[in-house]
Amino acid sequence: MRVAVLGTGTMGAPMARNIADAGMDVRVWNRTRERAEGIAEVADSAADAVRDADVMVTMLADGDAVEAVARDALDALPDGAVWLQMSTVGIAANERLATLAEERGVAFVDAPVSGTKKPAEDGELVVVASGPREARERAKPVFDAVGSKVVELGEAGQAQRFKLVMNAWLAALVDTLAETLAFAESIDVDPSRFLSAIDGAAVGAPYAQLKGKMMIERSFPPSFTLDLMRKDAGLVLEAAERHDFEAPLMETVARVFDRAIEAGHGDEDMAAAFCAYKR
Ligand SMILES: NC(=O)c1ccc[n+]([C@@H]2O[C@H](COP(=O)([O-])OP(=O)(O)OC[C@H]3O[C@@H](n4cnc5c(N)ncnc54)[C@H](OP(=O)(O)O)[C@@H]3O)[C@@H](O)[C@H]2O)c1
Repeated sequence: MRVAVLGTGTMGAPMARNIADAGMDVRVWNRTRERAEGIAEVADSAADAVRDADVMVTMLADGDAVEAVARDALDALPDGAVWLQMSTVGIAANERLATLAEERGVAFVDAPVSGTKKPAEDGELVVVASGPREARERAKPVFDAVGSKVVELGEAGQAQRFKLVMNAWLAALVDTLAETLAFAESIDVDPSRFLSAIDGAAVGAPYAQLKGKMMIERSFPPSFTLDLMRKDAGLVLEAAERHDFEAPLMETVARVFDRAIEAGHGDEDMAAAFCAYKR
């Protein structure tokens, strides 16, 4: 099976590596070519990457990036190929992309992933897939290579909706953790003691240990950048507005993330949301 991976950032690069390691014939393309070197055969353009592909994977920052790249690539994609759209783009952009695929006669599978850099490296992402059953079945070897679990949903668009729910939870969790640890420091409580106290308890998400340590150490090597998490908070708000749902917590979270981004932390891990709090 020939697979083109468009976008070899934090997630796309290890995913492409795992697809190649599973025995598929992989060609990669990335806007910044150096980030694609050493993974598999590198194409000069997105169109060149997909020219004889059975599956085209897009793993790019956001809906606009996916749309721009797909407009270049889709005309070169062979008839009968499947487009696996794995970036987190939200509901509105997903609709635009599905329409684009339909215009070009390409089977479109909406398949965002849950999990971050390390699970991507280990091939242990959770893939949430929606779209035509036959296309999902053809894409299965790719799902198996990048993930340990596939959550199969219905029509394309269901998976992006599900992913927004996951990321609403995640964004709020990170902000709650950031504020709690900053609050602890501000009232002279050792935040490490708090993390130890909740470790393994019902209220102690393992995520709190992972990101909490980064906050306490002020060290934010990116697994999932704050810029991308802010993008996802925006997608949650966009979806909420479309469905006439008030989301005051997510509005606050977005504002907190904006403060940390304005202070220069957008390309650091989302744990840098901590930097929004004055201590
Ligand atoms: N990191 C995570 O933990 C995680 C987890 C689940 C889902 N996701 C989602 O997965 C997607 C990729 O995330 P990531 O962490 O891999 O992001 P990343 O490391 O920032 O990589 C983003 C990719 O998009 C490309 N790109 C951005 N704007 C572009 C444009 N206008 N035209 C062409 N290419 C463009 C970048 O190319 P350059 O290299 O040239 O900049 C890079 O290949 C996002 O939708 C994100 O929300 C991320």
